[in-house]
Amino acid sequence: VIDIRKLYGQTGLFTYDPGFTSTASCESAITYIDGDEGILLHRGYPIDQLAENSTFMEVSYLLLNGELPTADELKNFTYTISRHTMLHEQLATFYRGFRRDAHPMAIMCGVVGALSAFYHDSTDITDPEQRMIASHRLIAKMPTIAAMAYKYSVGQPFMYPDNSLTYTGNFLRMTFGVPAEKYEVNPVIENAMRRIFILHADHEQNASTSTVRLAGSSGANPFACIAAGIACLWGPAHGGANEAALNMLREIGTPDKIPEYIARAKDKNDPFRLMGFGHRVYKNFDPRAKVMQKTAQEVLKELGISDPVLDTAQELEQIALKDDYFIEKKLYPNVDFYSGVILNAIGFPTSMFTALFALARTVGWVAQWNEMISDPEQKIGRPRQLYTGQTQRDYVPVDKR
Ligand code: ACO
Repeated sequence: VIDIRKLYGQTGLFTYDPGFTSTASCESAITYIDGDEGILLHRGYPIDQLAENSTFMEVSYLLLNGELPTADELKNFTYTISRHTMLHEQLATFYRGFRRDAHPMAIMCGVVGALSAFYHDSTDITDPEQRMIASHRLIAKMPTIAAMAYKYSVGQPFMYPDNSLTYTGNFLRMTFGVPAEKYEVNPVIENAMRRIFILHADHEQNASTSTVRLAGSSGANPFACIAAGIACLWGPAHGGANEAALNMLREIGTPDKIPEYIARAKDKNDPFRLMGFGHRVYKNFDPRAKVMQKTAQEVLKELGISDPVLDTAQELEQIALKDDYFIEKKLYPNVDFYSGVILNAIGFPTSMFTALFALARTVGWVAQWNEMISDPEQKIGRPRQLYTGQTQRDYVPVDKR
């Protein structure tokens, strides 16, 4: 007699938790979320305080090192990052291999994965110094990689980094500047991008971060692990929701159409969901959405744009917040609900939205990856399963089937 449970290794106690709704995969000291209260802390600091007062370099240092930097530490960190902003020149040929209409996330997956073939001196993951160099390289090169994806799509020459600018200002120049003209960074836009980058920097064990940790747990090359995170982020249930949210708001068009879409979101037979609404952890306001809403208003005012999409978004939020279905299921706007309105006003095509999310989340990914590798309890990530297939049976030759 074969004990089928032993045959397939299903002995002992198993928890069955599809989607990991209540299973902790690790211990972490980086980011804290209280989903019921709508609280998000990085290393103990509230996200709204960081978004208001900090720079992206400072938040990056904080996530990687655990403490806010002193003035000297910040200066050295910023200098180090600026030394790594350029891409190996041969990587430009990778871009030329893509179709012009390739999605920037497809390019990001390919090019970031390809970094593993270029930077061999930062791939010994047992060496903390090499891990830090890989982390600095990734943080520094992501704006260059994302901006080049944009430039390639519009057929303009690639712009080399200008390290005299801020992280955000340099990214804006590489994206919207052209070699023949001087590019003036608009401080309101720069400030909005700074906030957007900070708001996306980390979010504990979300799907893409868990993907980076899982890939990294086998000892894989750090650049390849981040490429895996980018692939996971791309989906519309995760980072792709900002693109989907703006497309949805455009489709709704005018506030009078909102009730029709609310009814569709509530209809169990309709797969439609309100994009930018709901969250696995937040059962209250996503604190990032509040900062996003304020930033959207500021940017539109500065640019003198009266975008009906913002009116539709604000109206939709108000209607949904008073609707029994959304109240009962605790569905609130998430970080993606307003970000598209801002990025659209700045001039990014929707296809770039998730690429910008990937750019900013890279710091969270590398901080979490470093934390995992340095954990003495770290093991290869290897979930189990509940086997529901056939019991053992004998092979049948093809002419007998
Ligand atoms: N519109 C309508 N109904 C919704 C929505 C929505 N946006 N989100 C959840 N629901 C409903 C579901 O139908 C489900 O109803 P049921 O209990 O009657 O079956 C209930 O609320 C719970 O939803 P789940 O999908 O089980 O919740 P989960 O935690 O798995 O999903 C998710 C969270 C994926 C974010 C979901 O809310 C969603 O699809 N939202 C839209 C996409 C989105 O905005 N994603 C961005 C997330 S934030 C980020 O990644 C940065």
